[in-house]
Amino acid sequence: MRVVAKLRPLFLFMFVSIIPHGLAKIIEFDEHWQQRQKEAQKIATKAYNPEPHNVTNAFNHHVHKHIKNTKNSRRSLSGRHPHKGPCLATNPIDQCWRCDKDWAKNRKKLADCAIGFGHDATGGKHGKFYEVTDPSDNDMVHPKRGTLRHAVIQPEPLWITFKHGMVIRLNQELIMTSNKTIDGRGGHIHIAGGAGIMLQYVHNVIIHNLHIHDIKQGSGGLISDSTDHFGIRGVSDGDGISIFGSTHVWIDHVSMSNCYDGLIDAIEASTAITISNSHFTDHNDVMLFGAHDSSTIDELMQITLAFNHFGKRLIQRMPRCRFGFIHVVNNDYTHWEMYAIGGSKHPTIISEGNRFIAPPNVFAKEREYSPESDWKNWLWTSDGDLMINGAYFRESGDKSKKASYTKGKDVIRAKPGSHVARLTRFSGALKCLEGKPC
Ligand SMILES: *[C@@H]1O[C@H](CO)[C@@H](O)[C@H](O)[C@H]1NC(C)=O
Ligand SMILES: *[C@@H]1O[C@H](CO)[C@@H](O)[C@H](O)[C@H]1NC(C)=O
Repeated sequence: MRVVAKLRPLFLFMFVSIIPHGLAKIIEFDEHWQQRQKEAQKIATKAYNPEPHNVTNAFNHHVHKHIKNTKNSRRSLSGRHPHKGPCLATNPIDQCWRCDKDWAKNRKKLADCAIGFGHDATGGKHGKFYEVTDPSDNDMVHPKRGTLRHAVIQPEPLWITFKHGMVIRLNQELIMTSNKTIDGRGGHIHIAGGAGIMLQYVHNVIIHNLHIHDIKQGSGGLISDSTDHFGIRGVSDGDGISIFGSTHVWIDHVSMSNCYDGLIDAIEASTAITISNSHFTDHNDVMLFGAHDSSTIDELMQITLAFNHFGKRLIQRMPRCRFGFIHVVNNDYTHWEMYAIGGSKHPTIISEGNRFIAPPNVFAKEREYSPESDWKNWLWTSDGDLMINGAYFRESGDKSKKASYTKGKDVIRAKPGSHVARLTRFSGALKCLEGKPC
């Protein structure tokens, strides 16, 4: 039972042939898209933090402060059954907004709450509200006013909400523009049974409180990607959320399961991303960070994965990384069949304060390893992780590098995995009622 698999070229090979090269999805890579790509790469380069350990350190500092301030509340809150009683915000992100009974009047407060690499994501904070009233998705080129597709292609910043609970079956992938928040608080919002969400060459997006499941491939065709441009798209991958060349993205309190390809993929120079408080179940390839061995541009990738629950019937890739710097902190891994974290192409993986509970079948699913000579210099560290049922993490690289960025004495260790049940207790989409804490 591996927590970690350092994958062998043979295995990768299979990979590369399975994943269609993303660019192919834009059939006409016209001036519009060339321009968007150029701008996106500029923004990604600027967002890249040359001292990523500063960010991991700041993250850990927030968690420490939060736990210190709440130490009088009951500690042994481990169950995930519905909670009755006063509002509990069990981690610093939630504490920032969840227990405000007027959250529906202060929706944009959420934009101040991200921590980790995606902390600059403010979404539509500086824009107007847009209320989605119509769950239909029939016209890909001139979407109807009041639909989610109409909202996400508008040029200006928008904070998108929903009039009531709804199931939106996307006819084709939902191509978003920059400076948007999709805020599903207040009703059960399901994106399900159709295509998924695509962030391609955009910046500054928040996706919050949605159920995303049973996503299928879209057949492609003419789709608007902004109010003044549409183009021919190829078949979409069938990811729940695809982050493609995009920067400053925060995904929080999302419940995801059973998508055709990945639940969340981040590829082609995507960076400054936080994925937090989410709940993942029923899926094989959960998260892919970096799709191609040739995309060295993914060295820019910096992602925080925090307070998530990797739950039932998951198989692998939580995440699977190429290049990049991934802070995996205070997540709960309660189920996997093949491995939890895997990678190739010298990604840096800082695993801190997670709980890894290995599956019971000890004979199952040995991964092939690449020769140690390949991975011995990659920085993969594990601190404060709670290893249960024979789970293990093989560290590699020069650990002193981890401390040297933050000049030794300032290093703040993550809260250990024993705190995880509490920190992740309210993962997934929340049921929020107006006038009550969420
Ligand atoms: C990293 O942290 C150090 C010490 O707090 C600070 O002086 C430096 O400016 C930070 N660097 C970045 C890129 O944030
Ligand atoms: C998004 O908002 C920022 C800050 O207001 C602005 O500089 C940027 O141009 C906006 N992006 C787009 C694509 O409109």
